[in-house]
Parts: sequence; structure tokens; C-alpha cells
Amino acid sequence: MEYSLKYQDVLSESKKIKPGGRLNRKTDLGNFEKTFKSEITGVIELTPLEKLFQVQIINHDERERFSFKPGQFLMLEVPGFGEIPISISSSPSRRGVVELCIRKSGRVTNFLHKMQRGSHVGIKGPFGTCFPMEKFVNENVLLIAGGLGLAPLRSAIYYVEENRNMFKDISIMYGTNVPGQMLFTYQYETWKKIDGIKLFTIVQNPDKKWEGKVGLITDLFEEITIDASNTHAIVCGPPVMFKFVCNKLNDIGIPMEKMFVSLERRMHCGMGKCCRCNVGSTYTCLSGPVFDYWTVMNLKEAI
Ligand SMILES: Cc1cc2nc3c(=O)[nH]c(=O)nc-3n(C[C@H](O)[C@H](O)[C@H](O)COP(=O)(O)OP(=O)(O)OC[C@H]3O[C@@H](n4cnc5c(N)ncnc54)[C@H](O)[C@@H]3O)c2cc1C
Ligand code: FES
Repeated sequence: MEYSLKYQDVLSESKKIKPGGRLNRKTDLGNFEKTFKSEITGVIELTPLEKLFQVQIINHDERERFSFKPGQFLMLEVPGFGEIPISISSSPSRRGVVELCIRKSGRVTNFLHKMQRGSHVGIKGPFGTCFPMEKFVNENVLLIAGGLGLAPLRSAIYYVEENRNMFKDISIMYGTNVPGQMLFTYQYETWKKIDGIKLFTIVQNPDKKWEGKVGLITDLFEEITIDASNTHAIVCGPPVMFKFVCNKLNDIGIPMEKMFVSLERRMHCGMGKCCRCNVGSTYTCLSGPVFDYWTVMNLKEAI
């Protein structure tokens, strides 16, 4: 089947989309303004820039009640330093313990990287839309990440692993600039052993030790054979990657409404109050961060 999207199609479809559309945010928020007192129960150094923080809600009852879906994020409060949005990286089936893969990039994250096991933080949430895993049932799934994009995608990887019989073929494609930026390398062998899951990795600038594929993430499409007629894809990474990867997905016949991207915008409150994260009249903290690519194409200046 040949699928090609024309510019005119995008323009006419865009009229049907109603961005934003939340009338009563206060009602929608429920008790999301609550901060759960939590403890850092483990810290794993993944790369010189990224650490994985295991964070557990201290109160037993709150811990039991807390749940999230792959693709959602938290507001993480580092006392005395501030609050930042961070994607949840762990399995949604683990109750009240979340894993957060955090890059050292500024004021809050620099301090967080100095914190140890036993330190206290606050978490609010979960916030945002999720990857619509129920739409992928009985379908092939392509999970595609660039760089830090593997952090939110890892939660979806746990989901497909734990519900393996619900999906057909699963391929994980992951690319970074240099080998030293690859996250969760200690899990690759486990992922490859899950029935029917294929993992493909690529780096743009190899070092002497790298024996794998060299190039851009789009080059990995040479490695896969999929039946595009029943395939969904999730793409996580820097916005520049979305365009190239989603065009490639479009070329092989996957329609835009079957591609999902996690759109990161500067966020402050995470709950539609501060107007920091909007794209036009759409608040990415409420309507996103996960959107189907068709919608993203129609959000002016989204990428
Ligand atoms: C929905 C969502 C999920 C996120 N998930 C993760 C994650 O899993 N792991 C992770 O390390 N980071 C994630 N981020 C980015 C993270 O929120 C920022 O890196 C963090 O707010 C930086 O805080 P800071 O005070 O340390 O840095 P600042 O001093 O505020 O900024 C330092 C640098 O980070 C950039 N930055 C700041 N805020 C953001 C932002 N919201 N998005 C992108 N870049 C930003 C700035 O442009 C600057 O270059 C996510 C952001 C969003 C919106
Ligand atoms: S982050 Fe405040 S409105 Fe979205």
C-alpha cells in the first residue's frame, strides 16, 4: 500500500482539530496538587551526565494508591531548589516506586545529582497523556528513541514486556550521538531475550570500541522488515528527530495517526496554571506530552 500525505490534506484536516479544549482545569486536576513525600532509595550512574533515581513514596497507603501509565510525567520537587517535570522511566506495574532518569543540566538537576540514597524529595502527579498502549493490541509495535528519549520509552518497554502476548512483533530502535551516551546498556541483553523483541542500536560518532552500526537513527530502517498495515510507532527524542523519523515511518506506509510522539516543552506548573508550555492555545502539560503525530503536524510551531 502506498501512503503519501499531501500538504493540502494537512491543511484541511487541521480545521477539524480543536486544540486545548479544557474548560474546567480545577475539576480535572482532582488532588494532583498534592505533593507526596518521597525518599530516594537508590541512585545508579548511567553515564557521566545521567543518573537513574529510584524514588519511593514514604506513606504506605499513598504508595499503594499511586499509579501511572507509560508516557506520563511527574513534577519532582527538590526542596530548596525547585520543581521540574520528569518522565517516569519505570514499569507501571510497580506500585509507588518510580525510576527517573535525570540529566544534569541546570540548577535543580545539578543539586539532585549530588543527592544520595535516603534523601527526601517530593513528587506530584502523575501528569499528562500516556502512550495509548490499548490501541497497539494485536499490532506490531515500533519503539524508537534518540538520546534521553529512551527514558520515557523505557516505561513502554516494560509494559510490552509484561504484556508480551498482547502484541505482535516488537522492535526497539535506539540511537545516540556517541556510544558513551547510551542509556540502560545493562538491560539490552534482557530486552533481546524477550520473545520476539528485536533491539537495534546505532551511533553517529563511534569510538574505537564501538562495533555496532554507525549513522543516524533513520539508517536503522534498513534493518527492519515490518508489515506497515498493522503497525503502531512511538517516537521519543529531540524534536529534530521526530521530523526525520516520522517522515521515514510515513514512507514505509505507517499513517501519522498511528505514530505517537512525546513533545517536551518548558514546563513550570505541569497543571495548566502558568501558561509556560503552550503551543498556540494547546497546553502541552494537559493535552500532552504524548500526541499522535497527525495532531503535532497541525499544531503550529510544535516542532
Ligand atoms: C514532560 C517532560 C518530561 C521530561 N522528562 C525528563 C526526563 O525524563 N529526564 C530529564 O533529564 N529531563 C526531562 N525533562 C527536562 C527537564 O524538565 C529539564 O531538564 C529540567 O527542568 C531542567 O531543570 P534545571 O533547573 O536543572 O535546569 P535549568 O537551569 O532550568 O535549565 C538547564 C537547561 O535545561 C533546559 N531545560 C529546562 N527546562 C526544560 C524543559 N522543560 N524541557 C527541556 N529542556 C529544558 C534549558 O533550556 C537549559 O538548557 C522533561 C521535561 C518535560 C517537559
Ligand atoms: S506547565 Fe504550566 S501551563 Fe503547562
